[in-house]
Amino acid sequence: MTTQTPPGPRGLPVVGNTHQWARDPCDFRERCADEYGRVVNYEIIGWDAYMLTDPDDVKRVLEDTDTFPKHDDSTDRLREIVGDGLLTSEGDRWERQHEAIQPAFYMSHIRNYADIMVSRTEDTVERWRDGGTVDLREEMMRTTLEILVEAMFGEDIDLEARGIYDAVEAMQEPLRPRNQPVTFLAPDWAPVPFLRRANRAKDHLEAQVYDILDERRRGDADREDLLSMLLDADAGMDDEQIRDEMLTFLFAGHETTALTLTYVWDLLSRNPDAEARLREELDEVVDGRPTVEDVFEFEYVDAVVKEAMRLYPPAHEIRREPAKDVTFGDYAVPEGSLLVLPTWVLHRDDRFWDDPEAFRPERWLEADRDRPEYAYFPFGGGPRRCIGRQFAMVEAQLAVATVARDWTFDRRYDDLDLSAAVTLQPKGEVPVRTERR
Ligand code: HEM
Repeated sequence: MTTQTPPGPRGLPVVGNTHQWARDPCDFRERCADEYGRVVNYEIIGWDAYMLTDPDDVKRVLEDTDTFPKHDDSTDRLREIVGDGLLTSEGDRWERQHEAIQPAFYMSHIRNYADIMVSRTEDTVERWRDGGTVDLREEMMRTTLEILVEAMFGEDIDLEARGIYDAVEAMQEPLRPRNQPVTFLAPDWAPVPFLRRANRAKDHLEAQVYDILDERRRGDADREDLLSMLLDADAGMDDEQIRDEMLTFLFAGHETTALTLTYVWDLLSRNPDAEARLREELDEVVDGRPTVEDVFEFEYVDAVVKEAMRLYPPAHEIRREPAKDVTFGDYAVPEGSLLVLPTWVLHRDDRFWDDPEAFRPERWLEADRDRPEYAYFPFGGGPRRCIGRQFAMVEAQLAVATVARDWTFDRRYDDLDLSAAVTLQPKGEVPVRTERR
């Protein structure tokens, strides 16, 4: 079979397509998919990129981790921030870590975290005033971080006093939309203030994890939190590994859920019928405080969260790097290039979705859902699929149920201005007026 280089948009000398990508990555990728089809070749920040738009190709890549490991350069940068935990490791090391950690995310354990999820969300709404204004994104970030830290370390960790909240913020600063170009392009020795702050924050978080580990070893309490599970002798992890995993969870486990919740509220505020139907289900199912049993009964709440992640997938693209020359159909993709699996594009592809731009949670309730498995992959797929996906789904639904019981929001912005950094995020604040029902 003769192979050919996949088509793609013409770029400029040196910068390639970086300028088109940087202006609006989501729009750029959608236009490329429309125009060039199955495999699209472009160049961003010096990387020779190949975007796949066929769900079966996405499946092949995600499920074959030997041929398609993570993209080396992107992962190296991430490793500098979060260490060598589950998100960034490869091969045997990843396999051992995955095996040790997976039981902590079984549904039987997630049940134990449900009360934390509801309680910390209650703390958030207790701070609100009827008629006050809050930044929704910030409120959701704090809530999901508080939930995660308590699920990881137990209830006696004071985020504020230990400086954990500020440190997590600083650790993520290099990946904020406005900072990302510098983060990815600056040489290691460059004196960039936010990179220094991020390094100091990482040191601080590492010291905190060691400190908590010490305390834990001195105490004798029989605990149910994530740290105890990793400390369990059967898990066979040394302190350094535990530290890296804890940092990874802090990084991977709260912003994505907070963004999902922000998008849920944005979409509901634009779709009053959907909001009314959601409340109807909540009134029917929840008796007093929401519980994990309620989550198993929710249909519409679940559909709302899924639909929000379809339209606004926090992980808007997934990256891999072929370990050898490969072909997709008769298109050749070389070893060492950047493979882009564009969640955003496939989630809005009219080959698989009716009226793809519309927020229509009902589509998840329809019996006849004949679409390829990888037309929807907000949590990735294959062996490297998100380990926290069930945690996140239970958490998001309990948070929605807890907030929607008493509160509704009046938007104080027109449209969300989004930017596709490592995660898909609103560029600025998301101000809303909080109204008690
Ligand atoms: C809505 C919320 C979430 C979304 C959209 C999300 C998305 C993702 C995606 C797409 C991946 C795969 C990345 C890749 O293949 O390159 C991933 C991996 C991962 N996620 Fe999540 N995630 C969420 C919540 C969480 C939570 C709550 C945790 C932990 C408490 C978590 C921890 C992780 C870890 C450790 C990995 C790496 C897994 C591995 O490589 O084995 N995530 N996530």
